[in-house]
Amino acid sequence: MSLDLSPVDQAKFFAARRATDYVENGMRVGLGTGSTAAWFVKCLGEMVRDHGLNIICVATSAQTAELAKSEGITVTTLDDVRWLDVTIDGADEYDRQLNLIKGGGGALLREKIVATASEQVIIIADATKQVDTLGAFPLPVEVIPFGWQSTKTLIEEMLIGLDVMGRRASLRMKNNQPFRTDEGNYILDLDLRRIGNAQQLSLVLNQAPGVVENGLFIDICDAVVIGYSDGKVEVRDINESIMEQTQVEIFEEDNLFLDIDD
Ligand code: A5P
Repeated sequence: MSLDLSPVDQAKFFAARRATDYVENGMRVGLGTGSTAAWFVKCLGEMVRDHGLNIICVATSAQTAELAKSEGITVTTLDDVRWLDVTIDGADEYDRQLNLIKGGGGALLREKIVATASEQVIIIADATKQVDTLGAFPLPVEVIPFGWQSTKTLIEEMLIGLDVMGRRASLRMKNNQPFRTDEGNYILDLDLRRIGNAQQLSLVLNQAPGVVENGLFIDICDAVVIGYSDGKVEVRDINESIMEQTQVEIFEEDNLFLDIDD
């Protein structure tokens, strides 16, 4: 690959390019958020512009919606289409059961709503996101701003009885202000280090008043497409328990990288 991309970015690109195989003419497609999902949107844009792919998409963030529109992709609302054929998104961690931590980019709420409205959910990632046990990546929890300090204290207390290694919650900041999600909420990042029972934790967290949603995606993902910097791609599919390996090719006329600094 004669591109000035880091090995991790190359891996993300190859995973994204392979994931376009899940998209067919006439489909309703959910678009994830984050740097890997952005590669997917660019690949999809190329297929729409140059190959006449006819799809309608729902974005999981304002940022992704803007990128998709700039790529010439038709974007609508989830309320307009109600359900989706497939959603392609990134993740911060995935384990062998294809359970995920998401929300590093702060879009977990819309991502979870879009994913659960989808027939198929495909995660694209580089191999660094794979873990034996979830929890090294701080777990994002979206909370409403009202009383967030009380919500934070309650969450830390709830964690005492749960199978986790850490319990510290911190308010996500951006430019010295609390980070705001597209829904206007705050994010608490939970430093848990190891999550022994992700399903239980997810259920408990969502019972706390003030919590809108958490970044654990349990039994939602159908397959993970794992990219490597040399163009190798693995597909891990929990339903069929298969592991597929392919090589993604780059074409000379590929112009996806012209706006690489975007
Ligand atoms: C966005 O809120 C997240 O769920 C992203 O999908 C996740 O953080 C992965 O992002 P990258 O692809 O940038 O690593």
